[in-house]
Amino acid sequence: MDKMDKVVSLCKRKGFIFQSSGIYGGINGCWDFGPLGVELKWNLKKDWWYTFVQLREDMVGLDASIITHPQVWVASGHVENFHDMLVDCKSCKKRFRADQLETETCPDCGGEFTEPRAFNSMLRTRLGVSDDTAVETYLRPETCQSIFVDFKEVYSSVRVKLPFGIAQIGKSFRNEVNPRNFIFRSREFEQMEIEYFCREEEEEAVFASWQEAIWQWYLSIGLKEQHMRWYEHPKESLAHYSKRTVDVEYEFPFGWGELQGLANRGTFDLTQHSKHSGKDLRFFDPEKNERLIPTVIEPSAGVDRTILALLCEAYDEEEVEGETRVVMRFAPRMAPIKAGVFPLVKKGGLAEVAREFEQKLRRRFKTVYDDSGAIGRRYRRQDEIGTPYCVCVDFETLENQTVTIRDRDTMEQVRLPMDEVADYIGKRVSIERD
Ligand code: GAP
Repeated sequence: MDKMDKVVSLCKRKGFIFQSSGIYGGINGCWDFGPLGVELKWNLKKDWWYTFVQLREDMVGLDASIITHPQVWVASGHVENFHDMLVDCKSCKKRFRADQLETETCPDCGGEFTEPRAFNSMLRTRLGVSDDTAVETYLRPETCQSIFVDFKEVYSSVRVKLPFGIAQIGKSFRNEVNPRNFIFRSREFEQMEIEYFCREEEEEAVFASWQEAIWQWYLSIGLKEQHMRWYEHPKESLAHYSKRTVDVEYEFPFGWGELQGLANRGTFDLTQHSKHSGKDLRFFDPEKNERLIPTVIEPSAGVDRTILALLCEAYDEEEVEGETRVVMRFAPRMAPIKAGVFPLVKKGGLAEVAREFEQKLRRRFKTVYDDSGAIGRRYRRQDEIGTPYCVCVDFETLENQTVTIRDRDTMEQVRLPMDEVADYIGKRVSIERD
């Protein structure tokens, strides 16, 4: 099995991620996050929000609706430009993206292709109950457009100064022709986007500072520098709104893939929405007594792709005492469960003490109690889901109220008084920085 297959299999087996609608045969390009996956996802989103919104005075948040007025997508250029060029195989009827084909004929059956045709990737939906009044609109293909549409509402309610940014995390939808590579390219996914508004003369410095901030954040959540690189888009392949785009790419087991795009969108979006809505979306700078359409620098990250990178980075196997130990080496603050609490054996009152202790710890961070099977097996179960610490209640606990704490990566144990454990683990798994 190659590494990707191992990661996918662990995700299913342990309840991180599985196919959506599995009992009906699944639905292509849609995935469900199970009990551990949802914890991992929350940890990631909380950390991103903490880093880029809570810690910064120049950032505010937004949570806008997924469904918007259809004009939003006319103004944004998506109705006209958000296309993939597709070809169909004349023999087996399979459809392919023309830009992803490496062969002149169908890679599946060798058949001839049709001429390329444009296919809009937005998902359509109808809003309203009666056929004659229902409005046709789209599920958003990117979260950022509502940041532009709501720009004036936001900036006039929080009294910000340039430069400042608006952040949003939420679902986006794209009718991808070939969803593939597990959750890397799906039809429903989540984005974490920032639109950062500045003066045109600051654009290069702002762009550079976001490049640095993004890079450092990926390192801080546990991605290794040697698995990341920048990719600068050549001018001719830029999206319709972009003056410059660089991507952070990650080396997945299937090759390098985009994790996040950093784009200079210039004044494109606010100008378009001003024109199409007839509303003045200029920013008023009271200090300079000036109205202007600010330039926008946009860091746009995918939640699901970051999760996939975290899973691939974390997956490790090693030989321990003649057995293969599978261990997910998540950064502790990303790990779905922070501590496993076990009695060494169930009898002698150990189970009761361990249970009670676990109940206390769970108020601080996510824990799990486990008393089934040999202690070694219990450690392995937690290693496999990436739990950074395991606390063991043994007979010495009854004598002096101390427990052992085992580190997932080194497998070494320290003995600590029970009343110091919450702080010991708490400060190692918290997203907070000093
Ligand atoms: N607002 C700009 C924008 O949406 P993008 O490069 O199309 O730019 C940004 O998307 C990020 O969203 C990507 O870097 C990727 O992480 C994520 N993303 C885009 N399409 C995706 C898909 N089909 N499945 C999973 N993630 C996707």
